[in-house]
Amino acid sequence: MRTTWDFTGARALVAGAGGIGAAVTSALAEAGANVLVLDVDEAKMDKVCQGADSVNGLTTDLTSADACRAAVDRSVQLLGGIDVFVHAVGVNDRRPVLETPDEVWERLRAVNLDSAFWLGRAVGAVMVPAGHGRIVFLSSVSGLLAHKDHAPYAATKGGVNQLMRVMAREWAASGVTVNAVAPGYTETDLTRAYLSEPGIRASLETLVPAGRLGRPEDLTGPVLFLASDQAAFVTGQVLYADGGRTLV
Ligand SMILES: NC(=O)c1ccc[n+]([C@@H]2O[C@H](COP(=O)([O-])OP(=O)(O)OC[C@H]3O[C@@H](n4cnc5c(N)ncnc54)[C@H](O)[C@@H]3O)[C@@H](O)[C@H]2O)c1
Repeated sequence: MRTTWDFTGARALVAGAGGIGAAVTSALAEAGANVLVLDVDEAKMDKVCQGADSVNGLTTDLTSADACRAAVDRSVQLLGGIDVFVHAVGVNDRRPVLETPDEVWERLRAVNLDSAFWLGRAVGAVMVPAGHGRIVFLSSVSGLLAHKDHAPYAATKGGVNQLMRVMAREWAASGVTVNAVAPGYTETDLTRAYLSEPGIRASLETLVPAGRLGRPEDLTGPVLFLASDQAAFVTGQVLYADGGRTLV
């Protein structure tokens, strides 16, 4: 796909080296950014950093406030500042509410929502005094629709949407925009096992007007647009990149 964005010299922090985080990292690097990636999974990190001089990684578990603060402090030292922050870490665990134990609720909240607050707050503390910044959270169609067996995941994505809106409002006058991109089902490690269950892929595809599930590359344009200078007057928005899933 032809790159239409210019991020020459931009300092980008991407939390998440998984399917979507890796695609966004490559797109930002191709467009000229220096990218630092955070993830708990060293193997994924190595893969994302391989062969790209402008991409580096910090292996870290983002489920504590201290770890998130330390990761952002270190990122500022390594990059020299942060112009773009993309939050693309996430986990899911599909089961009915009545079969959801405390530890599943707590783990999803910590990875999906708490890290968004902790990292977003630490990044905002750098961007607001600098008078410029772009923050993009990966939300989900689950933040809007009531998918069964998705209670903790849906609650964290609804929470991310509201967290994003309040950050957007508080930081708008400082030149910092905060938005979210909400994918539908996308082919990554997050969905691989579920999609391989009998009949699941076909039944999910019928729910998407575009007739297919998403690919990580489908998210790079929406994320890079919101991270670009061209999106300076767009803030507090959830951009659905879902092949029309939320229309039906
Ligand atoms: N794939 C989809 O269908 C889909 C749909 C809607 C939204 N999303 C969202 O997009 C984002 C990226 O998801 P993806 O599809 O690339 O998934 P993925 O599983 O490929 O990547 C998620 C990454 O998060 C990392 N991670 C998990 N726990 C962590 C922790 N404690 N500390 C640091 N890193 C941790 C994982 O190691 C992994 O690399 C997530 O927020 C996800 O909820 C994905």
